[in-house]
Amino acid sequence: MKQIKKITCIGAGYVGGPTMSVIAQKNPHIQVTVVDINQARIAAWNEEDLSKLPIYEKGLDAVVAEARGRNLFFDTDVDKAIEEADMIFISVNTPTKTYGKGKGQAADLKFIELCARQIAEVAKDDKIVVEKSTLPVRTAETLKSILDNTSSGVNFHVLSNPEFLAEGTAIADLHNPDRVLIGGENTEAINALVGIYASWVPNERILTTNLWSSELSKLVANAFLAQRVSSINAVSELCEATGANVDEVAKAVGMDSRIGPKFLKASVGFGGSCFQKDILNLVYIARSYNLHAVADYWEQVIIMNDHQKTRFAEKIIQTMYNTVNGKQIAFLGWAFKKDTNDTRESAAIYVADHLLDEEAQVVVYDPKVSAAQVYKDLDALGTRAPEANRRLVKVVDNAYEAMDGAHAIAVLTEWEAFKTYDWAQIKEGMKKPAFVFDGRKLLDRKQLEELGFKYYAIGE
Ligand code: UDX
Ligand code: UDX
Ligand code: ADP
Repeated sequence: MKQIKKITCIGAGYVGGPTMSVIAQKNPHIQVTVVDINQARIAAWNEEDLSKLPIYEKGLDAVVAEARGRNLFFDTDVDKAIEEADMIFISVNTPTKTYGKGKGQAADLKFIELCARQIAEVAKDDKIVVEKSTLPVRTAETLKSILDNTSSGVNFHVLSNPEFLAEGTAIADLHNPDRVLIGGENTEAINALVGIYASWVPNERILTTNLWSSELSKLVANAFLAQRVSSINAVSELCEATGANVDEVAKAVGMDSRIGPKFLKASVGFGGSCFQKDILNLVYIARSYNLHAVADYWEQVIIMNDHQKTRFAEKIIQTMYNTVNGKQIAFLGWAFKKDTNDTRESAAIYVADHLLDEEAQVVVYDPKVSAAQVYKDLDALGTRAPEANRRLVKVVDNAYEAMDGAHAIAVLTEWEAFKTYDWAQIKEGMKKPAFVFDGRKLLDRKQLEELGFKYYAIGE
């Protein structure tokens, strides 16, 4: 296997962008080119002003500043980048199918297939093709079949190298991963990729497996994480009914070293591009092998998550005397978690949708999410006409404006800044009784109650 001198990554999104930036940062001798068909996105990656990069991640600007123009490039010429590369990462989106067989569950692999065909068409010499996107088990087989059957005598080695970074902490996770997982059949190809990570990741944290274990591990890791959130959320409802406190229960349970303290924070429901998609994927795969008990088991994680979002919205309605019609409800946060501008599958979208069905007036403030994105998310649900979303929802860039005159505040994202607000002043400007529904258990109950707020938090 020749030495890797040039890497190309197809897809400049939340995964491809940060991952390649760090690979380039840590391997100055390798030229890394990230390509995307979305011209606006590439232009944003090339922005002189680093605050305008297309995704917001702490520390990403510094990594890009260090490597961009040196050995990190962002481009729209996909063919050229494929042709030049020794190793090609595929990091395109794999959304849940919205049509046909597996609709609503299976992963839509059309973008992956298009990439494979394009690679096969353009490649003139041997390539290592790395799956970076999360994919259903045995996708590598599909990839290999397309590559081998459509190219002109070029050799391809397919590797699976799932990414475990979490948004909001992407750069820290990339710099210091719990593990790097590489699945493959060809030792030389595996070693080539190990060599790239070994520039900064200790050897004992680089794990190599067969292709299928690697693909499956990614789905299972996300399913386990999501399952913990759904488990604690199920307990949160029980706590509300019995007088237990979910944080106290989580602490007591998490101190068992076999269970561990992380990922036990009750919330309005998990969001993000991965958890739901990957579990649905796992469920679909299990069903396709006729493993219905397995499928039902994992499906329950999604059912619980949907329940938690609905329950939160219903709690708001019920507490506000069973009607929110015409009432102003301030949403603090729209992103699916703090420290990101990503809103994919955010609980806020579904909670808002539920309240809008009841003709509430929702005013959204999120420090990193644009008005255009909020409307796009709501329109995509197709629940009501776009005009109705614009009539009922206002997006403001000042939190105090969102809360001024509001009947209630709903905390949907755990942005730290929310804690530091002047709650006495906010209360003055609100309709009474002033309700706060804390979907993140972020605020200080004692402080708010002393100020006279009616405070509800998940699991208390
Ligand atoms: C359990 C709890 O561990 C303990 O904290 C509680 O106080 C009582 O219940 P116990 O039932 O004695 O203790 O044994 P445990 O080691 O938890 O195993 C329970 C069962 O799970 C066994 O049948 C064991 O074989 C099985 N198990 C455990 C697995 O199949 N896989 C595992 O990874 C762990
Ligand atoms: C996740 C996995 O963590 C990551 O390893 C994988 O590569 C991609 O999917 P991400 O979706 O970016 O990462 O964020 P994560 O921190 O896992 O949070 C997912 C959702 O769960 C968020 O909505 C978060 O608010 C919620 N969550 C998380 C909880 O509600 N409680 C918790 O205890 C943890
Ligand atoms: P992820 O969170 O998995 O990174 P994103 O949607 O943020 O997903 O990013 C995927 C990127 O892949 C998008 O910017 C999209 O334009 C790009 N993409 C999809 N298909 C192709 C393709 N055939 N060639 C180049 N880029 C593609």
